[in-house]
Amino acid sequence: MVKIDNIELPDFPLLLAPMEDVSDPPFRALCKEQGADVVYTEFVSSEGLIRNAAKSVMKLDIYEKERPVGIQIFGANLDSMLQTIDIVEKSKPDIIDINFGCPVKKVVSKGAGAGILKDICLMEKLTAEMVKRTNLPITVKTRLGWDHDSIRIVEVAERLQDVGCKAISIHGRTRAQMYKGNADWKPIAAVKNNPRMHIPVFGNGDVDSPEKAAEMRDSYGLDGAMIGRASIGNPWFFKQVKHYFKTGTYLPPISLEERVEAARRHLQMSIDWKGETLGVFETRRHYTNYFKGIPHFKEYRTKMVTSDKPEDVFATFDEVLDKFSGYEFTV
Ligand SMILES: Cc1cc2nc3c(=O)[nH]c(=O)nc-3n(C[C@H](O)[C@H](O)[C@H](O)COP(=O)(O)O)c2cc1C
Repeated sequence: MVKIDNIELPDFPLLLAPMEDVSDPPFRALCKEQGADVVYTEFVSSEGLIRNAAKSVMKLDIYEKERPVGIQIFGANLDSMLQTIDIVEKSKPDIIDINFGCPVKKVVSKGAGAGILKDICLMEKLTAEMVKRTNLPITVKTRLGWDHDSIRIVEVAERLQDVGCKAISIHGRTRAQMYKGNADWKPIAAVKNNPRMHIPVFGNGDVDSPEKAAEMRDSYGLDGAMIGRASIGNPWFFKQVKHYFKTGTYLPPISLEERVEAARRHLQMSIDWKGETLGVFETRRHYTNYFKGIPHFKEYRTKMVTSDKPEDVFATFDEVLDKFSGYEFTV
């Protein structure tokens, strides 16, 4: 069994990665239903939150059905981060995760996200103070290092553990790599193999098939896998991996009916959460992924992403069911 502080998880848990504009409550709910063991919110800006910015505040919405859930925050200013902890606690997440891995320039240039990888002492201090501020478990998500020449992740992980971090998720790329090349899981395994480490070490980066998840578990010996892009448009990925672990075989491909049902529920949950206008608008980005592979789909996709009224989108889903009934997906 794997434990994040007192949160008990199954062996080799699968975690839904924090993803801006993707891992909102409706998407997290779908992933949870399909086997995700822990889900994380999109990253929330500490500077936004302490100024009560609507976009940041909305990201604190969590629902009972998705637990255990971690709210992920980012920032580089100690005071702001501590105030953020106080605000985030009111939403009663199970975990507070610190983003020390975001490579985006506007985040990094303020010393936040992966920017902190240039100042490991500050990273340690922020983590230590945040741990002291709350009784909730603090976890960290980070990258291997700033660049290839500054990979010190074994030491970094140990220092974070020593100041009370309860789990670490490591994306097997440096900041300099952004998303290029392949994720390297060897340095993550080195963190896990450090005899001083006792907190869970989760691997992240490029887990896009059940076989890769099995490799992360069996060949690299990590405690669990954090899954990002493979779940976009495919919340079933979690159950596909779990089925493979159990049986060594694949689940049958997800049918058109299941995909339409997921799209329908996704839209309905978004509307219930954000209202009609935002709900319709923000679910649009998911449709292409749900229906990927269907030939001559453009007309329907266009309707889905241009209709402003929920009833029109729902009607398009019905048309898709009619028109493409019997279409066989490969995954
Ligand atoms: C659209 C998108 C948004 C992301 N937003 C965040 C974020 O808010 N916080 C974070 O820590 N990582 C974020 N990431 C990085 C992912 O959590 C993950 O580390 C990365 O995608 C590698 O994992 P994967 O290969 O399984 O996708 C984002 C990635 C994507 C593709």
